[in-house]
Amino acid sequence: MADNPATTKGATDITREQLIGLLNEDLAREYQAIIAYVVYSQALKGAQYMSIAEELETHASEELEHALIVSKQIDYLGGTATVTPEPVKVSDKAEDMLRFDLDNENETVRNYRERVRQCEALGEFAIAEQIREILVQEQEHQIDLATALGIDVPDVGGR
Ligand SMILES: [Fe+2]
Ligand SMILES: [Fe+2]
Repeated sequence: MADNPATTKGATDITREQLIGLLNEDLAREYQAIIAYVVYSQALKGAQYMSIAEELETHASEELEHALIVSKQIDYLGGTATVTPEPVKVSDKAEDMLRFDLDNENETVRNYRERVRQCEALGEFAIAEQIREILVQEQEHQIDLATALGIDVPDVGGR
């Protein structure tokens, strides 16, 4: 017997209202990333961290671009963009700062992968496309941070 689509709800079965809420969570993470990269890029001290500090400055402007793209999609869907960032951790140790950034990027990548599928399930293919482009940069951020920490890029999966 064929599955009844009304009773086979998957993780991608969400409403537009729920998508607005999830995009606002993404936006709060983008604000968090902007703040973290602005602060950490200046707080990293020591000759061995100079090139990653410069990378983090570049990340800061890319995260601002992402925030603008995400807030535009929220507006398009008829929602109101949040003004509250996710909290930013502080430490005076360079390795902690890089680790916090990598943890956040992992979380961001996991979420955007899910968001692409959710947008497509809703038929919002253009929003999915915008998020795919953000995802490419978030994965580059992961690589930059993992490289600076001397580790492999973690496999964060898609959900
Ligand atoms: Fe971002
Ligand atoms: Fe990022």
